Amino acid sequence: MTGIFQKTIDGHITPVPPVWLMRQAGRYLPEYREIRATTPSFLEFCYNPKLAAEATLQPIRRFGFDAAIMFSDILVMPDAFGQRVWFETGEGPRLEPLESAADISALRDEVNMTRLAPMLETLERCRSVLPVDTALIGFCGAPWTVASYMIAGKGTPDQGPARLFAYRHPETFAVLIDKLVRGSIAYLISQIDAGADTVQIFDSWAGVMPAGEFERWCLDPVQRIVEGVRRRHPGARIIAFPRGAGTRLAQCAGKIDAQVFGLDTAADIGWARSNLRPGVVLQGNLDPLVLIAGGRALDEAIDVISNVTRGKRHIFNLGHGILPETPIAHVEQMLKRVRCKGQA
Ligand code: CP3
Repeated sequence: MTGIFQKTIDGHITPVPPVWLMRQAGRYLPEYREIRATTPSFLEFCYNPKLAAEATLQPIRRFGFDAAIMFSDILVMPDAFGQRVWFETGEGPRLEPLESAADISALRDEVNMTRLAPMLETLERCRSVLPVDTALIGFCGAPWTVASYMIAGKGTPDQGPARLFAYRHPETFAVLIDKLVRGSIAYLISQIDAGADTVQIFDSWAGVMPAGEFERWCLDPVQRIVEGVRRRHPGARIIAFPRGAGTRLAQCAGKIDAQVFGLDTAADIGWARSNLRPGVVLQGNLDPLVLIAGGRALDEAIDVISNVTRGKRHIFNLGHGILPETPIAHVEQMLKRVRCKGQA
């Protein structure tokens, strides 16, 4: 049996759209903060399948979302290639930056799947206890986004260090991207084998690229990942999320063989519905800030999305991750409105 999330991707129009939220397992939940406090290191928390599975399940128990997303992070991939990764509390990710061709060839050639095994166990644990009609989403970062952290060693306002590196050393940068493409294919295939119903590829920094760079470093690598996953699992459900792609989303939907495309907060959902191939399912694009604001602003923002998507295949979600200061009551308000609007 499958629930409305899988049905929507598989081609059915359901009376109420499926709903989940990016970063739904996280700091806005007191029960997450409680278990997170038991393990100071964020990566150690991710590598503990018992804790990671519990974090994955918490938002499902509390809100009954239609999909659970594996609790982990996109930066386990650099770690699995042998780069040192850690998280500074209150600041974000830190990596030993890759500065040269030598640094890139010092990485492993192939991803160390043993390092990624805990995430697969997290998926197995979740699948065994999740209700049958709740989907389980696995994920990875897109090569460009992951590489941009690997080069800079941290998040930056515009991923400038990696853009500069790609202009100066395109052949060397291509070696890194190719490693990440191969590693991501292996990782996503294993996630599906471990019980993920769907996988999402997060290209959080796609929006900073000029056109040519976008095609080479964002679009092509993601398409190669999708092809690689489909070689093993032809019917795999795949969500591509090129955040900030704007009108290039049409180009993405033309070339990337994913069933679902994620819309960020700034995307015009009406434009996307008219300009992407009709078979595409859209996901998103409620502003995480309007979820903090709540009240009438939230109701109105939900209605804008519901009005465009009524009678069409749509996965209700935010345009980016839920923010830690989001009141739980506003998530409840959102769910109520989305689920009753759909039936109207
Ligand atoms: O969606 C979920 O609930 C699943 C878990 C998930 C996390 N990170 C947990 C997390 C997912 C899908 C991610 C993806 C991720 N990680 C992305 C792509 C999506 C996006 O937001 O653009 C990126 C760019 C990262 C890298 C990353 N991880 C950053 C920049 C940070 C620091 C900023 C922040 O939000 O704290 C993280 C840390 C992180 N990843 C936390 C969580 C719950 C917070 C750490 C903590 O709880 O101590």
